Amino acid sequence: MESAEKRKRMLSGIKPSGQLTLGNYIGALRNFVRYQDDYEMIVFIANLHCITVYQDPQELKKNLRDAVALYLACGLDPQRATIFLQSDVLEHAQLGFIMNCNSYQGELNRMTQYKDKVAKGETNITVGLYTYPCLMAADILLYDADYVPVGEDQKQHVELTRDLAQRFNHRYGDTFRVPEPVVPQVGARIMSLSDPSKKMSKSDKGDKGCIYLLEDVRSARKKIMSAVTDMEACVRFDPQDQPGISNLLTIMSSLSGEPIEQLVQRFAGKGYGEFKSAVADVVCAQLSEIQARYQQVIQSGMIEQTLQQGSEQARRLARRKLDKVQRKIGMEFRKK
Ligand code: AMP
Ligand code: TRP
Repeated sequence: MESAEKRKRMLSGIKPSGQLTLGNYIGALRNFVRYQDDYEMIVFIANLHCITVYQDPQELKKNLRDAVALYLACGLDPQRATIFLQSDVLEHAQLGFIMNCNSYQGELNRMTQYKDKVAKGETNITVGLYTYPCLMAADILLYDADYVPVGEDQKQHVELTRDLAQRFNHRYGDTFRVPEPVVPQVGARIMSLSDPSKKMSKSDKGDKGCIYLLEDVRSARKKIMSAVTDMEACVRFDPQDQPGISNLLTIMSSLSGEPIEQLVQRFAGKGYGEFKSAVADVVCAQLSEIQARYQQVIQSGMIEQTLQQGSEQARRLARRKLDKVQRKIGMEFRKK
């Protein structure tokens, strides 16, 4: 308890509705590993969020297991962080429904992820997908998180969470901590290698633009070597006019720690081939390291143990908060 009071709490989730990508690693996972030293870290696999879009059951199972294994392989430590599967803590769905009842249709209509799908004319949008920001708010508010590290695309959902928390506190009295989003300065939005105007995304099936963490390193190298660039023939950081090169610079800088300006100097006057090859070296070294640790984790039995321990810890916190919420609303009248 003493340490929980001293240290701020940070919470985040990943929705493995596909294989995790280099974008997930740079924008999210890698940062969680760093944060676990300074914060009380809670991370979960958002498997309820996954099914807002139809998933093949066999593939989903594999992706969920791989995601836990990759969390561990990337360095999350179950002794320091609470790691669990969202559906193991039933309180998420229950508070999710309560959040649905405290959100307005107009708010959800404004969520970019939903709006984009509507704009693209998609007709298979589930009700679950539409209300998913409310579930995400529940995920965060159940644990009184101070900070929520996310990529750029998720910031809007954390802002909605803040609005919902403030609304609830105002209506029913102080109940939820109002969280803050934390978006990394470099690497919050890794772009597709084949179309640098789009985010690198695991939902782009068969795309040459996406590198998976468990991908064969030769294939990853090939994708980097054929990444879309431009005609400028100059390695410069200019996301507007040279989005492809700028994306590669971001990837390299976030993995190697070498500042972008320094990379630009190092590759001044050099060709794109040489630059891409250096980027591929850094990416492939990182992938090899993660993949070797992934194999160890898969063979170790650590996954079951981690999820068991994590869900017990999470359930304790979530139960307490949900009881409080239900009492405040008046929907629970017995003393527990
Ligand atoms: P998702 O893959 O959409 O479940 O995202 C999991 C986490 O990774 C979220 O915090 C995202 O913002 C982050 N993320 C996903 N794709 C990228 C990307 N291309 N660049 C940076 N961060 C990303
Ligand atoms: N919606 C997030 C995504 O698509 C995943 C997620 C679910 C999440 N619940 C969360 C992230 C709570 C942070 C906090 O990536």
